[in-house]
Amino acid sequence: MNKKFILNMNTKILSCMLIFCCWCGYTQGKETIKVYGITCEYKKDPIGVDSPHPRLSWKISADAKDVLQTAYEIRVANDVKGLQGKNIYWNSGKIGNGASVHIPYNGKELKSGERYFWQVRIWDNKGNVSPWSEVNFWEMGLLNVSDWKAKWIQSSQVTPTETAPSPLFRKAFSLKTKIKKARLYISSYGLYDAYINGKRLGNAYFTPGWTSFHKQLQYQVYDVSTQLISGSNAIGVMLGDGWYRGNLMGGRNFYGKEPALLAQLLVEYENGEKEVIATDESWSMSTNGPIRSADIYNGETYDARKEIANWSNADFNSKGWNKVLVNSELPLNNLIISSAPPVTAHERIKPIKVITTPKGEKVIDFGQNLVGWVNFTVNGKAGDSLTITHAEVLDKEGNFYTENLRAAKQQLMYILSGQGEETYHPHFSFQGFRYIKIEGAKEKITTDNIEAIVLHSDMAPTGTFKTSNALINQLQHNIQWGQKGNFLDVPTDCPQRDERLGWTGDAQAFFNTAAYNMDVAGFFIKWLKDLKADQFSNGAIPHVIPYYWKGEQGGSAGWADASTIIPWDFYQVYGDRKILADQYESMAKWVQFMTNNSTNNLWDKGWHFGDWLFYIPDDDRDGKAAITDKYLIAQTFYAHSVQLMINTSKVLGKQEDVLKYESLLEKVKAAFLNEFVTPSGRLVSSSQTAYVLALNFDMLPESRRAQAAKRLVENIESYDYHLTTGFLGTPYLCHVLSRFGYEDIAYKLLMQETYPSWLYPVKKGATTIWERWDGIKPDGTFQNKEMNSFNHYAYGAIGDWMYKNIAGIQPIEEFPGYKQFMVAPKPGGGITNAEASFESVYGKVSATWQIQNSVMQLAVEVPPNTKAKVVFPNAVPGTIKQENGKDIAKEEHWLGSGKYKFTFNVKDK
Ligand code: BGC
Repeated sequence: MNKKFILNMNTKILSCMLIFCCWCGYTQGKETIKVYGITCEYKKDPIGVDSPHPRLSWKISADAKDVLQTAYEIRVANDVKGLQGKNIYWNSGKIGNGASVHIPYNGKELKSGERYFWQVRIWDNKGNVSPWSEVNFWEMGLLNVSDWKAKWIQSSQVTPTETAPSPLFRKAFSLKTKIKKARLYISSYGLYDAYINGKRLGNAYFTPGWTSFHKQLQYQVYDVSTQLISGSNAIGVMLGDGWYRGNLMGGRNFYGKEPALLAQLLVEYENGEKEVIATDESWSMSTNGPIRSADIYNGETYDARKEIANWSNADFNSKGWNKVLVNSELPLNNLIISSAPPVTAHERIKPIKVITTPKGEKVIDFGQNLVGWVNFTVNGKAGDSLTITHAEVLDKEGNFYTENLRAAKQQLMYILSGQGEETYHPHFSFQGFRYIKIEGAKEKITTDNIEAIVLHSDMAPTGTFKTSNALINQLQHNIQWGQKGNFLDVPTDCPQRDERLGWTGDAQAFFNTAAYNMDVAGFFIKWLKDLKADQFSNGAIPHVIPYYWKGEQGGSAGWADASTIIPWDFYQVYGDRKILADQYESMAKWVQFMTNNSTNNLWDKGWHFGDWLFYIPDDDRDGKAAITDKYLIAQTFYAHSVQLMINTSKVLGKQEDVLKYESLLEKVKAAFLNEFVTPSGRLVSSSQTAYVLALNFDMLPESRRAQAAKRLVENIESYDYHLTTGFLGTPYLCHVLSRFGYEDIAYKLLMQETYPSWLYPVKKGATTIWERWDGIKPDGTFQNKEMNSFNHYAYGAIGDWMYKNIAGIQPIEEFPGYKQFMVAPKPGGGITNAEASFESVYGKVSATWQIQNSVMQLAVEVPPNTKAKVVFPNAVPGTIKQENGKDIAKEEHWLGSGKYKFTFNVKDK
C-alpha cells in the first residue's frame, strides 16, 4: 500500500470516527438530557429587568437515573443570529460545576431597553452533553432616570378629597412606516388601565401594584409592536384611586390626593430611527367617563350611559376635553421595574344557585368564598340600575350578612346604557365573596348571565396534595383558596373588610405553606423590598407592609420577625442567596432593635400582639384560656431571629458576624431560662404556645426538652386533644410534636373535628381558612363582627406540616432549594394514602404512598441534578424492596434523580 493511500484511509477512518462520535454524542445527548423550564429572575422571557446581572436558571430532563450536571455553558447575544457569532455579549465558557439555578449574567454592560437572547447547554455525569436550549431572552427596563422622557401629568379638574370619577387621558399621534418594535413604559399614582387604538393592554389588573409609593413606584413595560400601525394611532389611559388615594384602614388619601400618570411609548423603525411619545402638556383629559367612583373597599359605580365610544382611538374627536396639568414635582428617581407577577384573572366560577332569603333578598351563591369580581351581561332600558353587594356568608337564618365587612361596602352600582347587550366587570375594586345580593333591576341577572372571576397574583401552582381523607383534602383546598384570595399583589390578612393589609405576622406564619402551593418567589421579592424600604430608622419593622400609617407602629414580636424569617425560609425553598444578601442589613437592624430594647439580654419592652386569637372560652372560670406571656413570646422570637442571623452570616461568609450572633444567642437563651423557666422545667405560661415556641426555637438545654414536650402533650390532653394556639404558636405546633416523637398527638390535633381545630370550620362548610377558630360558633351564631374574616390564611400554616409530614417532602437546610431533600412520610391519623408533589427550582419532586394490610408502597420522584434521602417509615427490617427487586438494607436510603417505587412491611405500633 502506498503512503498516500494509507493517509487517505486514515483520514477517512478518522473523519468517520469523528462523525460517529459526534453523532453518538449528539443523539445520546438529545435522547437522554435536555434543559427546559428556563427563567431569568424567576420569569420566562421577562420584559423589563433592572438588575445589571440578571440571574439565569434552568431545569434538566433526563431519561437515565442518577443524573447530575457537571458543567454548563451560557451564551448571550443581542440578536438571535449573534448567538453563534464571534461578537457575542457573553459566553460563560464551559464552567465545570453543577450550578443550574440563579447564575448571574457576567458579560458586557447591559443597556437600557435592550433585549438579550440566550441559550444554555449542559454536561452530565454520564458523559452526555445536551443540545443548546431553545433561545430565550430577557429585556432590560429603563435603567437610568434620564431614560424617562415622560412628564407626570394629572387632571386639570378639581379633584375632591372624597372619591371622584376616574379621569381619562388620551393622546393621538402618527407614526411612520415600518415599525420594528415598540414598547410602552408606564406607571401611575393610583391605578391605571391603558389602551392603544381601542384595545386594552396586557392582562394585568391593579397596575402598577401596591408598593411604598414614595420610596419605590413600579412601572410596567408592554410590547406594543403589533398594536401600533403606520399612520394614526392613539393611546388612552384611565386612572383609579386604588391604594394611592382610596380608602385604606383609617382613612383615605394616605399617599396623595391627586392621581397621576407617566407613560412613554418608544417606537423603533426598521431604519433604526427612534421616536418617543410621552406624557406631557400635549395630552388631553376628561372626567366624564363611565366610572363615577371606584374604591378598593367600597366597590365601583359605573354609569354605562357615560361610556365614550372610541375614546382611545385615533379618529376620536376630543373636542371639549381638557388640558392636563404637568407636575414636575413628582419624582422619577423612585421608579423601579415590577418584579412580582402581575394580578391576573384565573378561574371563572358559575353560580351554583339563586336563593331568596327569609328577608326576601335575591342572593346568588357561587359555592366558593373567593376574591375577584363579578362579570355579567345584561339587556335593558337606559338608566335602569343594578346594585350588587358582596358577602362571604349567610347568617344563621340564611340572610345576607355583611356586618363583618365593617366599613367596606363591597358594592357595585351599574347603570345601564340601554344599548343592547352590555357586559361589565369592575376595574379598580376587588371583593371577597361567596354570595352576592342583587337589588334594583334584579330580574336582569340570572345564573346564566353572571359569573365570578377569581383574581390574584399570577403565581404558577407548584404544589399538589391529596390524601384518602376528604376532610383533610377540603382543608388543603381551603388553604389554597385562602392563598389565592390574599395574594393579590401584597400578602394581605384578609381580602374583604376595610383592612386588606400586608400584615407581617400573618405573612411569616404562612410563608412556607404558600411556597409549597405556588411559586411565590417574585411576589415576596417585591414585598421584601418594601419591608426593607419601610423599616423604621430604629430598626423596628412596621406591622403592615407597605406601611402608610402615621407615626411608627411596629416592632411586635412574631410580626416584625417577618424580616428575618421570610428571607431565610425563602432561601430554603429557592436556594437563592441573593435574597439573604439583599435583606441582610434589614435583618441585622431588626435584631439590633431587639438588643437595644433589652435589659440584661431580656427583650422586655414595647407593645406586642402576642399569640393573636388564641383559644379563649366564654365565661372562663377554670383558667382554660390559653394565655401566653407576651414577653416570653418576644424572647423566643428574639432568639429565633438571632439564630437566623447566625445561619445567614454563615451562608454569606461573614465569619465575624457568626461569632457575634452566636455569643448573643447564648445570652438571650440564658436570659430566657432565668426569667421564664422554673428549675424543674415548668414555663411561666402553661400554654401550648409557650411550650411550642420554647421547643421549636431550642430555648431549653437538650436535657430539658423531653420533659417540656411531655408537658405540652399533657396540656393538649387536658383540652381533650384540642389545640389552643393563636397565630404564633399554631404554625409550629404539629412540627414540635413530630420532632419530639408525638406524631400520634399531632395527628389527633389535625383530625380533631370539634372547636378549636382545623377541621371544625371544614365541618361547618368553610371553603377558605377563617380568621378565628370559631368564626361561626357551634350554635351557628357569628363571632365578634369587628374581627371575623372568613378568608384569613394564617391558620392555614398547617399546610407546611402536611406537605412535610403526611407527604414527607421537605428541603434539607444545608442544601437549600431542594438541591438535596428528604422524602420522609410519617403516616398516621388513619390516612391510607397520600399523593403530593412540589415543583422545585430543579424540577418536580413527588411522593405517593399507600398502606394496605401493613404493607406500604412508596413512589418517589427526584429531579435531575438533585439527590433525595428517603426514609421508610416504621419499616420492618429486611422487607424494603425496590420495584426492580433490589433489597434496600436501611430505613434511610439516598437516591439520585429518577422515578422509584418501593414496597415494605410496616411494624405494628
Ligand atoms: C389582622 C391580623 C393581624 C392583626 C394584628 C388584625 O386586624 O386582621 O391578621 O395580624 O390585626 O394582630
